[in-house]
Amino acid sequence: MNILVLGGGGREHAISWALAKSPRCTELYVAPGNGGTANIARNVKDLNAEDAQAVLAFAQAHNIELVVIGPEAPLVAGVADVLREAGIPVFGPDAQGAQLEGSKTYSKRFMDANGIPTARYQSFTDAASARAYCEELGAPLVVKADGLAAGKGVIVAAELEQAEEAVRECFGGTFGDAGNTVVIEEMLVGPECSLLAFTDGKTVVPMVSSMDHKRAHDHDEGLNTGGMGTVAPNPYYTPAIAAECMEKIFLPTIQAMNAEGCPFKGCLYFGLMLTPDGPKVIEYNCRFGDPETQVVLPLLESDLLKIMTACTEGTLAD
Ligand code: AMP
Ligand code: GLY
Repeated sequence: MNILVLGGGGREHAISWALAKSPRCTELYVAPGNGGTANIARNVKDLNAEDAQAVLAFAQAHNIELVVIGPEAPLVAGVADVLREAGIPVFGPDAQGAQLEGSKTYSKRFMDANGIPTARYQSFTDAASARAYCEELGAPLVVKADGLAAGKGVIVAAELEQAEEAVRECFGGTFGDAGNTVVIEEMLVGPECSLLAFTDGKTVVPMVSSMDHKRAHDHDEGLNTGGMGTVAPNPYYTPAIAAECMEKIFLPTIQAMNAEGCPFKGCLYFGLMLTPDGPKVIEYNCRFGDPETQVVLPLLESDLLKIMTACTEGTLAD
């Protein structure tokens, strides 16, 4: 099978490494790839992963039978939609499914509408109303740019002044268009857990749990980064919590996406907070986590290519 992986990070190296082990993998291309992927695949440096037509042309020219989309930007841009329409199997959701990550307002509304446990919130398009809600909630609280901000658009504010400053920054353009809408929510406490799951839109199969370390500086006192390090399995994710997450979070999410007419085919990332009131969703990502993938996929004993094919064909239950 000829495969094209889109992306150029450590995550895509881990995905490519796992795919390359499959006996069914013949040619493996990574666009743009990196120094690591160059050792196990062919890098395609000049292919822009966010240019759907260019990706389609490459896929057709090289008889690609599976495209695996690593980062969120091409997913949100609808690259999967264009490929699927042309009959090329894709591991990754279409643009609407990718909105689970692409818009925090969308994902919060989705969770609210489907009874999926998450932090109390409201969404704003002007600073005055946002500030008023900050005062109503009181510190500590969390201010989030609505759109994609490379993991840096979330400010956990211990004091009200810090939250107000974050609101000013979002609407002032620090996160570009991603900050035109701002989500404000209550702060949750507890250990965090990243849970990556395979899904074909009907069945959901969680991978081993992991834990991401996001905040800069000692004692987690700095700002959020895109991810500083990671371990798997997550020591706080017990079998009882896993069962609760499956019942209250994973299955309802997959079923609700189906009901909205956009079955999710790919890796759905559940960012969880294990609170004293039970597990709650902090965020969804529409793709493998980075850096979680680098510790999760090396623990996968099965053939990743077989699993990904099952996700695209709708046979994951088998
Ligand atoms: P997000 O991009 O929404 O995952 O947020 C990035 C990080 O900010 C999370 O991994 C948490 O560490 C933190 N965070 C986000 N929302 C909350 C919340 N409601 N309560 C506490 N911490 C949060
Ligand atoms: N590790 C966080 C993320 O992939 O978004």
